[in-house]
Amino acid sequence: MNNERKIKCITNENARDEKYIKTPVREFNKKNIFEVRNFHRSFPQYRETPLQELNALSRALGVENIWMKDESYRFGLNAFKVLGGSYAVGKYLAKRLNIDISELSFEKLRSVEIRNKLGDLTFVTATDGNHGRGVAWAAGQLGQKSVVFMPKGSAEARLMNIRKEGAEASITDLNYDDTVRLAKRYAKEHGGVVIQDSVKEGYTEIPTWIMQGYTTIIDEALEQIAQRVNALPTHVFLQAGVGAFAAAIVAYLASAFGTVRPITVIVEPDEAACFFISMEAGDGKPHAVTGFMPTIMAGLACGEPCNLSWEIMKDYADCFISCSDEITIEGMRTLAHPLPGDHRIISGESGAVGLGLVKTILGNSKFDQVKEQLKINKDSRILLISTEGDTDPENYQRVIAE
Ligand SMILES: Cc1ncc(COP(=O)(O)O)c(C=O)c1O
Repeated sequence: MNNERKIKCITNENARDEKYIKTPVREFNKKNIFEVRNFHRSFPQYRETPLQELNALSRALGVENIWMKDESYRFGLNAFKVLGGSYAVGKYLAKRLNIDISELSFEKLRSVEIRNKLGDLTFVTATDGNHGRGVAWAAGQLGQKSVVFMPKGSAEARLMNIRKEGAEASITDLNYDDTVRLAKRYAKEHGGVVIQDSVKEGYTEIPTWIMQGYTTIIDEALEQIAQRVNALPTHVFLQAGVGAFAAAIVAYLASAFGTVRPITVIVEPDEAACFFISMEAGDGKPHAVTGFMPTIMAGLACGEPCNLSWEIMKDYADCFISCSDEITIEGMRTLAHPLPGDHRIISGESGAVGLGLVKTILGNSKFDQVKEQLKINKDSRILLISTEGDTDPENYQRVIAE
């Protein structure tokens, strides 16, 4: 592997322009957020995931705070994605039953009466691993079937974890975006329900619900921060694949705090940096990366931006970063072998990239210009989200052992 640490950063001049407070963000208003959180709370497995404070590291890097939200604890599934899949499944069933989601708890969805009303359903999805595991889990919990397709090169351990949730799952010989197309074809031919986070014409509802589902993370994190300091984070780093996770959090922050929201930094692997190249193109349109994307950040190896995510990011996200795999390796190792006093966090390839970036940028004068672009200084309070644990345990061990 090439050991060079490469970081490219581009800033979005439109992000702070008031005229841009507009449409898609309205789907992330207080009422929606409240409904999402309540739905998740109704799951017996629901617990807030921990927010770790890396005080020794923030002192060493010369910033006020570094907080890490650890999503490896989410519902015992080692990643955040179940929040989106479960909420989308819940909203879909609510719509089918003609009931408002606020009246539909997990308990109620499992009841014999509701099961009989719904009959047998099959949820279909494509995934690098985490989303599919979340959808398979939600379907299984509700007594329904799921079929999951994975792109070429997916880790066997991730496939097994999806099968353990009762799904019919397989690895294809296609890249991620073509696997999504295959899942859609399969669902059409077999009468399945597609639970996917890529927006295409006529398919916007489910991706929006998936994105709304992710807001539980930031809602919890801000509450946890408020219990410790009387201030918002100044920066939030968000890693992006199709961008649903990052855009959901950007939208939440824009909706809740308007122009005084934290600076949001979108992070992608350089082999799959579709948001970065779209911003760089400067024509306001999403652009795709095609072919295979050789990055260890499997969850971020998506070449086609979700349109809805792009609509939100181009108007509200402040900075876009493309970086090499070495950056996330730095993050994984730093979190696995923390400074004395800091908590150890098991963070996988797609989870640790934000921390790797912060450490690389602040610890190396070569990246002073990026630090300036991001407006990071000694008063910065940085929120990072480790979106997964060791979802590919073999690779995780190899990376941290070196
Ligand atoms: C661990 C992890 N982090 C981040 C992401 C990025 O999410 P999105 O595809 O919504 O951008 C993914 C996507 O699968 C993921 O698995």
